[in-house]
Amino acid sequence: MGRFYITTPIYYANDAPHVGSAYTTVNADALARWHRLLGEETKFITGTDEHGQKVADAALKSGSSPQAWVDQTSARFVEAWDALAISYDDFIRTTEPRHYLSVQKFLTAIYENGYIYKDVYQGLYCVSCEDYFTYESSDEGKCPIHGRALIEMEEENWFFRLSAFEDRLLEHYAQNPDFVTPETKRNEALSFVKSGLKDISITRSSITWGVPVPWDDQHVFYVWYDALINYLTAIGYGRDDDEVDKWWPASHHLIGKEIIRFHCVYWPAFLLAAGLPLPRSVHAHGWLLFEESKMSKSRGNIVRTETILEGFGALKPELPKAEQDLFGADALRYFLLREIVFGQDGSFSFDALVQRYNSDLANGYGNLVSRTLSMIGRYFDGLVPYPASSGSVAQVHSFAVEIPKAIASFATSFDALDFSRALETAWALVAAVDGYLTANAPWKQLEGTSDEQQQALRADVLYTAAEAIRIITALVYPVIPDAAARVWTQLGLGDIRKADLKNLHWRGLQPGTKLGELSPLFPRAD
Ligand code: ME8
Ligand code: MG
Repeated sequence: MGRFYITTPIYYANDAPHVGSAYTTVNADALARWHRLLGEETKFITGTDEHGQKVADAALKSGSSPQAWVDQTSARFVEAWDALAISYDDFIRTTEPRHYLSVQKFLTAIYENGYIYKDVYQGLYCVSCEDYFTYESSDEGKCPIHGRALIEMEEENWFFRLSAFEDRLLEHYAQNPDFVTPETKRNEALSFVKSGLKDISITRSSITWGVPVPWDDQHVFYVWYDALINYLTAIGYGRDDDEVDKWWPASHHLIGKEIIRFHCVYWPAFLLAAGLPLPRSVHAHGWLLFEESKMSKSRGNIVRTETILEGFGALKPELPKAEQDLFGADALRYFLLREIVFGQDGSFSFDALVQRYNSDLANGYGNLVSRTLSMIGRYFDGLVPYPASSGSVAQVHSFAVEIPKAIASFATSFDALDFSRALETAWALVAAVDGYLTANAPWKQLEGTSDEQQQALRADVLYTAAEAIRIITALVYPVIPDAAARVWTQLGLGDIRKADLKNLHWRGLQPGTKLGELSPLFPRAD
C-alpha cells in the first residue's frame, strides 16, 4: 500500500487566518482526502509558526505575552480549519515541547557534522518576511514583497554552511525533475541555486522568543530554521525513528511561491547536512490576490474565512452553526480549487465567489441531484430503478464509455494537482447528464408509448442519471466533502468516507437501493 505524507506551511501566529492561508490548506486537504480514498496510508499536517520577531511584535502591540498571544491566534487557526472541514491528522505548534526537542536534535546533528560556525552578520531585514535582503535584492531599501522600509542589522550569529551544498542540490534537481512543481517554480528554485549559494545566518541573539540553541545559551534559532523542522516534528524526529523512516521519503510540501527559497534550497540543504533523504516533492502555488495585491496579514487586505461562512450560512437559517459552516465551507473550497489554477496567481472577489456558487453548485450539481432523485421518488417509490437490459436509450451506452474516460482524466489532473481542470472534467459530466435528462424528458408521457414502455424508458434514464451522479459525487468528495456526503446518503449509500475510488466503475449502483431522505443541497445566493 502506498503512503502519502502531505504538509502545509505552518502559518505565522501573528494574526488569525484569512482566505489566503485557507487556500493552501484547502488544496492540501483535497489531496489528503483523495489519497485516502485511493486507499493510501495518508498523513496530513498543518500548524502554526509561533516564534520570531513578527509574532513577538504583534504580541507586544496587543499588550499580551508572546505565549498568551500565540495561544489565542493558534486556536483561531484550529477553529477556522475545523469550520472548513480540514481533515488534518496533526496540528503542530512550534511552542510545543515535542517541537523544541526535534529542532534541537536536528540542528545539533548538523552542528556535529561540522556545517555550523560563528561569524558576524550585517544586512537588511524585513520583519514581515522574517528574512534578510541585500540592498541589490531589495526595492531600493524597501521590502519587495511588503513595501516596508528594511531594518539595518548587525550581530554575531551562528551560520550554516549553505555554500557547501550547491553541487549536491544541482545534482538532486537534475536527477529528480519533479522535485519542485510546477515547472515554472522549479526553474525559479533552480536558478537561485545556480546563481551561487552564500552561507546563511541561522540564529539570533537580539531576541529571546525562539528555540534556544543547545550549544550557546546566548542565542535562539532564527524563526525559519525552527519552523522548517516542524515537518519532522510531526513524524516524531528525535523521538521515534521508525515513524520517521515510515513517512519521510513519502513527503510532499505544499507552499506559496514566496517561500520557495526556504523550502527548495535551504530546507533540502539542511536535510543533506543532517544526513536525511530529501522530501519527494515541493509543490509551489501562486497567490490569491485581493484588491490587486497578495492577500496578506502584513498588508491587511484580508478577507476572513468566517465572513464567507457566515454569508453562506445565512442561506440555511434552519441549520445549527456548525452545519452552516460546513455548507459554506463547500462553497469556498469549490471556489478556491476551481477558480485558481494551481501554480498561477488568481483573484478573490465576492462577486466571483457567488457567481461560481450559483452556476456550478446551485444550478449545476445541486439542481441535477435534486431533479434526478426527486423523480426516482415520484416514479419509483424512492428505489433506484432497474435499467432495461435491452438498453432502450442509446445514450446509456455513451455514458458507459464516457464515464470511465472522465474518471481517468479527473484522476490524472488531480494527481498532477491540476484541481481546476479536474473539476472542469467533473462539471462537463454534470452538464452532459443534465442535457441527457432534458433530451429524454422522463417526466413526459411520449405520444404512442404505453405506460409500461414509458416506465421502462424512465427506469433507464433515471438509473443512468443516478449512476452518473454517484460517480461524480465520489470524485468531487475531496473538494466538497459535506455536500458529497449528503448526496451519498441521499443515494442510499451510507458513509462516503468508505467510498473506494480505485474500484469506481460504471453500473456499480445497485438497482433497488432505497434512497435516503431528500433535502435541498445548494439554495441560490444573491
Ligand atoms: O510564511 N495566496 O507563514 P505565513 C496564496 N510561517 N497563499 C497564501 C496567501 C495568498 N494570498 N497568503 C498566505 C510563513 N498564503 C511561514 C511558513 S513553513 C515552515 C513557515 C499561504 O503566515 C501560502 O501557503 O506568511 C504561503 O506560503 C503561506 O500561507 C504563508 O503563511
Ligand atoms: Mg507571509
